[in-house]
Amino acid sequence: MKILIINGPNLNLLGKREPDIYGPRSFEEYLRELTAHFHHIHLEYFQSNHEGMLLDKLHQAGFDVDGIVLNAGALTHTSIALADAVAAIPAPVVEVHISNVHARESFRHHSFLAATCTGSIVGLGLEGYHLAIEWLVRRAGAVRKIEGKE
Ligand code: DQA
Repeated sequence: MKILIINGPNLNLLGKREPDIYGPRSFEEYLRELTAHFHHIHLEYFQSNHEGMLLDKLHQAGFDVDGIVLNAGALTHTSIALADAVAAIPAPVVEVHISNVHARESFRHHSFLAATCTGSIVGLGLEGYHLAIEWLVRRAGAVRKIEGKE
């Protein structure tokens, strides 16, 4: 089973960036914990500050992996192109936001991605990634059962 985590702009700065909002941990450190916990699955991580790179990754992985966890950062609130890419691929995509975007500035309240993602986890800190992966693993198991592969 393959699951891809995609982080968008500025999320490479986790741990240094506004720690009062996003916490003190770098994503690389957190990823080590995730990888150890989900050692039975193939977990891939991709981060880019460039919209086109995120689009290319969604196109390339979206027909291959069993699920995608996507935190598109600020592009969530601006990018119709990313929403179209999510709609174009068969892999289920869970939208994650570390902070509770609904409790912040009004421009963060709208997500272009939410309608095309399978679901969203918002405001639960880094744990949102863990929960999203857990759900994707459960979903993939359920799909395999339905398809008679288990
Ligand atoms: C974020 C929320 C966005 O509004 C913001 O632009 C980010 C991070 C979050 O994880 O809380 O970069 O996606």
